[in-house]
Amino acid sequence: MLVHIKDLIKKAQKDGYAVGAFNIFNLETALGVVRAASKLGAPAIIQVSETTIEYAGLKAITQIVEAVAKDEKVKVPIALHLDHGKSFRSVAECISVGFSSIHIDASELPFSENVLLTKQAVDYAHKHGVWAQGELGILRGVEDKAQTPEDMAPFFTDPEEAVDFVAQTSVDTLAVSIGNMHGIKKFRDVGVPDLDLLRLKKIHNNLPATPIVLHGASGIKKNQIEPAIELGVRIINIDTELRLAFTNAVREILNENSLIYDPRQVLTPAIAAIEKIVEEKIKMFGSAGRY
Ligand code: G3H
Ligand code: 13P
Ligand code: ZN
Repeated sequence: MLVHIKDLIKKAQKDGYAVGAFNIFNLETALGVVRAASKLGAPAIIQVSETTIEYAGLKAITQIVEAVAKDEKVKVPIALHLDHGKSFRSVAECISVGFSSIHIDASELPFSENVLLTKQAVDYAHKHGVWAQGELGILRGVEDKAQTPEDMAPFFTDPEEAVDFVAQTSVDTLAVSIGNMHGIKKFRDVGVPDLDLLRLKKIHNNLPATPIVLHGASGIKKNQIEPAIELGVRIINIDTELRLAFTNAVREILNENSLIYDPRQVLTPAIAAIEKIVEEKIKMFGSAGRY
């Protein structure tokens, strides 16, 4: 069933686990997420990026998610969220088609401008009964050349600034930069970075009621994820591992069988590959068996 994100996150707050936020691109990836969540009795957030909206069309991708989540066989709660909305316009468009949650990512702007754009988006979202995620601190990863922990430190979320940011913007959830990194680079090049859990602890101590969002969580191991959940992380974003799984499954079946011509035969293993990753993450995040 399709629900408001607040229902998922309030329960996760109360019971001390995190909900996976999985990026989807098409029907097959949406099916993979929902099937895995259904199998494990888990909540899930399905999120789409602006790039995906450009690729598939906002109405089409929204209706795909709604149709898959509202299937009568789906008893677990699924929420739809905009990932990394970069402009007020993009946020407003997603709200107009019924998203229950948006992310306004103005994290690359100076603090005061981040506050300004985030507050504008949050006020609009709240007027429409929608939850808003803001972001403080910059996640590097896709675009940079050098990527050592020392390079990244100046971009981390400042625990004191986080208090001002939440107070000034009224965001419902806060995305932080604590060493986490987006994209493929950590798999192919620099390695998956460690999280700065001490910094996370300070942020959580300063903002105990604010659900924290961990972006760039592909590749992060259980021994880092579990303490992060203890320290207030309630939403964990996974994209790159899903893309890898999907694409590798397609590559494998096409390599195996050069006569294959039915797209359904190509895409069925890709759906299964998505399901497998989502199941692993749901178990790791402590959200299995909650519904
Ligand atoms: O965090 C960013 C997401 O992985 C979205 O990436 O814009 O290529 O869809 P994308
Ligand atoms: P990954 O690139 O680590 O999967 O991060 C996904 C993400 O943060 C989406 O917002
Ligand atoms: Zn992200």
